[in-house]
Amino acid sequence: MKLDDAIKQRRSVRRFDLKKPDWQKIIRAIDSARFAPCAGNQFVTKFILVSDEKKIKELATASQQNFVGTAKYIVVAISDDSNLIRDYDKRGTRYCAQQAGAAIENFLLALMDQKLVTTWVGHFYEEQVRRTLGIPEGLHIEALFPIGIETKIKTREKRKINLDHILYFDKWKNNKMAPMIKVSKEAI
Ligand SMILES: Cc1cc2nc3c(=O)[nH]c(=O)nc-3n(C[C@H](O)[C@H](O)[C@H](O)COP(=O)(O)O)c2cc1C
Repeated sequence: MKLDDAIKQRRSVRRFDLKKPDWQKIIRAIDSARFAPCAGNQFVTKFILVSDEKKIKELATASQQNFVGTAKYIVVAISDDSNLIRDYDKRGTRYCAQQAGAAIENFLLALMDQKLVTTWVGHFYEEQVRRTLGIPEGLHIEALFPIGIETKIKTREKRKINLDHILYFDKWKNNKMAPMIKVSKEAI
């Protein structure tokens, strides 16, 4: 799949086919995460691939979202900001969250490439997830990703944000680009 297609076609899917996805494809997507940029070249995010049915039910309860329990696999992303705080003080926490986001987006696009679907689930009772997966205190549970194969039932089209709502030129809130300067051949 072309990168541009993966970026534009990615969307949250909350209804999965009954067929179990190939776990190797999920691992391939997780492998893509480690190529994301990371502050101080310290990769701080880890992933747990959950296939145990009992644990999946517990994670669905923790998130209070039924569709989470319909997935055959859930990937949980966890970050440890301790080294980044040691090296960058308060900024370490921010860097940690930013690079987790970058790693997660790689993972999401790679899942698309593997023709698998998911939704970023950020709402959950942290303590319940911690207990179910044995995640030590102090580590950040970034999100749960219930993974499946898309059903043939079409879900609604996603709302697209217009480019002119997110782009300014030269200063905050300026939507107008300065006139383009024609560069002569001689100048370069
Ligand atoms: C930090 C974060 C937390 C989210 N938490 C949830 C969640 O708990 N449950 C859910 O169904 N979707 C959740 N989403 C998915 C968003 O609802 C979804 O990305 C958004 O509506 C845009 O739709 P799209 O992903 O199809 O582009 C979350 C997304 C992000 C980035």
